[in-house]
Amino acid sequence: MRPLRFLLDEELRELTDIDPTMTVLEWLRGPAGLTGTKEGCAEGDCGACTVVLGTLASDGAMRYRAVNACILFLPMVDGCQLLTVEHLKAADGRLHPAQQAMVDQHGSQCGFCTPGFVMSLFAMYLTEQRPTRARVNDVLSGNLCRCTGYRPIVDAALAMYDIEWDEPVRAHAAKVVQGLRAMRDDPEPLAIEHAGRRYFAPTHADQLDALLAAHPKATLLAGATDVGLWVTKLHRDLREILFIGNVAELHGINDRTDELVIGAAVTHADAFAVIAREFPDFGELLRRFGSTLVRNSSTVGGNVANGSPIGDSMPALIALGARVVLRGPQGEREIPLEDLYVAYGKQSRAAGEYVARLRIPKLARGEQFHCYKLSKRFDQDISAVCAAFKLRVENGRVAEFRGGFGGVAAIPSRGRKTEHALVGQPWNEATLARAEAVLGEEFTPLTDMRASRDYRRLATTRLLRKFFIETTQPGVATRILDAEVLA
Ligand SMILES: Cc1cc2nc3c(=O)[nH]c(=O)nc-3n(C[C@H](O)[C@H](O)[C@H](O)COP(=O)(O)OP(=O)(O)OC[C@H]3O[C@@H](n4cnc5c(N)ncnc54)[C@H](O)[C@@H]3O)c2cc1C
Ligand code: FES
Ligand code: FES
Repeated sequence: MRPLRFLLDEELRELTDIDPTMTVLEWLRGPAGLTGTKEGCAEGDCGACTVVLGTLASDGAMRYRAVNACILFLPMVDGCQLLTVEHLKAADGRLHPAQQAMVDQHGSQCGFCTPGFVMSLFAMYLTEQRPTRARVNDVLSGNLCRCTGYRPIVDAALAMYDIEWDEPVRAHAAKVVQGLRAMRDDPEPLAIEHAGRRYFAPTHADQLDALLAAHPKATLLAGATDVGLWVTKLHRDLREILFIGNVAELHGINDRTDELVIGAAVTHADAFAVIAREFPDFGELLRRFGSTLVRNSSTVGGNVANGSPIGDSMPALIALGARVVLRGPQGEREIPLEDLYVAYGKQSRAAGEYVARLRIPKLARGEQFHCYKLSKRFDQDISAVCAAFKLRVENGRVAEFRGGFGGVAAIPSRGRKTEHALVGQPWNEATLARAEAVLGEEFTPLTDMRASRDYRRLATTRLLRKFFIETTQPGVATRILDAEVLA
């Protein structure tokens, strides 16, 4: 078995005999002695633990993304460059612009959140040219500050581009790229065994299939934005882990004439641009999915496979008529996404089957699609209710209608009774009133800390009304879509 390997800044680190569920944060603050990265919540919510991962893209260019180290298992950085707040200063001690701007703009008081903010800013500095204020707000959606207030931090984000700097990490890129390439070109997948825990990181689907057959009880791991919390918060002992993030066949986005095909291991951050272009409302929903830090890790397949009744992507995918491709011992099969969910925690996936990709039909001529997320906060909050509707009206009548819902039942659901009440009817107030009555009875939502049953029922019908208004009276302002206005 080969060691776990990655570049810590530019230095090759090779680790053996490590616990595969140790988080990157635990390793940094423990064995590595790098305590600049902080622990706040240990559940991906506060950003105190933000680090930057550099990877080598297939075109040979470096890609950087900021992630939550507290829920990332250490073996997941195999083959990557790991950068922490300790690695930003120039050799002569000058602060990086992301750090200097925070000082200049008074962006820090107690300073506990500051390393995390700096790392998010640093990732933005490496990947974006002079973003707008609204974009900065999005980028910082996963970093919380309890004392400074965000205005000076956002000012720092904008000001850092004016600071002269001739030593970006890119200056060392040749050495780093060489190191990353050498690791990538080693065909031996990572496998770890430590104190009864095992971790495998196959690189191809046939290896994954064989491992699944040999370890049928293993936990599949993608971005760890759910699984990481099973360890840090629920203290679950994961004995066998199959990490699917390196499996080539589960990557890739195929933008076909009539559909998008998205690999299960594609992150929400990577899927965002193509989804937002095709379905602007869905893009807006994804912009509110967790935070930038979460979306840089969380995968399209992980959300669907987790199947949470309050998961955000499923209502939109169900309303769009998406199909999920499952791969297992019998090969591949394809089902409508809504058919994956049987009951709470129960799916129609057979033993050994996993989500390989999603097929999302593009909108045909005349089809309209809107989706809505209701949550207590704009960013970084799970939905109380999520609803998505697809509609085609012909000669004033509803020719086609699909509704996808989250937060209203034990599983992500399709509103078949409501659809039935609408199809063939005139798209008018009388039909809407009847459909609202049906929708109000179609589901039996729960009362929980996010919302009451009555709120959820009422909100769902009001979202249908909102959709009606938006599709029949486009002049009526029902929402603020322009992110600049929110800034
Ligand atoms: C701070 C925070 C905010 C969040 N905000 C949101 C939000 O706004 N909306 C929302 O919907 N969710 C949210 N989540 C939940 C989480 O980010 C999503 O469910 C995410 O899509 C999970 O993807 P992942 O790749 O991280 O999955 P993982 O955590 O790696 O896995 C999740 C589950 O799916 C299984 N799995 C993963 N990939 C596959 C596959 N290809 N085939 C079969 N099984 C698989 C795993 O075994 C596990 O059971 C949030 C999480 C955090 C920590
Ligand atoms: S410690 Fe709060 S997000 Fe990691
Ligand atoms: S400066 Fe204290 S939490 Fe941000």
